[in-house]
Amino acid sequence: MKGIILSGGSATRLFPLTATTSKQLLPVYDRQMIFYPLNVLVKAGIKDILIIVAPEHSGHFLNLLGSIFDKNDIRLEFKVQKNPRGLADAFIVGENFIGQDNVTMILGDNIFEDDFSDEIKNFKSGAKVFAVKVPDPERSGVVVFDDQMKALKIVEKPKDRISDYAIPGLYIYDNRVVKVAKQVKPSARGEIEIVDIHNWYLDKGELAVGLVKGKWLDAGTFDSLLEAGVYVKEKKLYEKFDPIINRAIEEFNEELKIICKKRL
Ligand code: TTP
Repeated sequence: MKGIILSGGSATRLFPLTATTSKQLLPVYDRQMIFYPLNVLVKAGIKDILIIVAPEHSGHFLNLLGSIFDKNDIRLEFKVQKNPRGLADAFIVGENFIGQDNVTMILGDNIFEDDFSDEIKNFKSGAKVFAVKVPDPERSGVVVFDDQMKALKIVEKPKDRISDYAIPGLYIYDNRVVKVAKQVKPSARGEIEIVDIHNWYLDKGELAVGLVKGKWLDAGTFDSLLEAGVYVKEKKLYEKFDPIINRAIEEFNEELKIICKKRL
């Protein structure tokens, strides 16, 4: 299983904060946002992770993450997505990185309380996405279930309320996803939509939908960014991080202190 963190995009809803750095490097309480999706992948034992970034502030990601995981046997690769063509583009940009493997993709601004290790480790084939009950599902893709909670259809940002369940930004696919992503045609808003990939697997009867139990936040607006920070603090989510990540953050801080002393 390989991992991708999709960390590009335009982040217009967070302007002007994102005029000087990437959304995924903004703080969520005591650490940069990207550590949250990174934690989901590392906790699930994924060692090969591709971080897809936008060109503008790509160097900032390298400064933060470029060397801190080396000794923990976690290999990070970075790739620039020149234009934010849509979520499904992750599998085209990441084609060489994915190779012949399965892949878990997580959005760089998504914060999950749950641990998805079992789902990721036990994945065999097809696709697995998740559903979470939210008050404003029309902000994302939604999934419509029948009485038995069997997924019937998936719709991107529907105008009418057809379901209470949003699909958060964590997706597990077998290797066919690369081929499928290449077939997806741009939508009316000009993006290649991940919902088309979900529906490809759904039509074949190969899409599993799990339920998210804990909190899910997409920290892409001022309010949700603030809510995420407060939630992390109140629930002490930083204590539940994989020790590899907490150690790496501590070591990075120590290195910074040494550099600052030398400069002084
Ligand atoms: P969004 O929040 O949908 O888009 P955005 O980050 O560009 O923000 P805004 O709507 O405020 O302009 O993106 C979800 C995540 O996916 C986020 O981490 C950015 C990332 N992304 C890419 O990396 N490439 C893309 O082509 C798109 C559409 C999103």
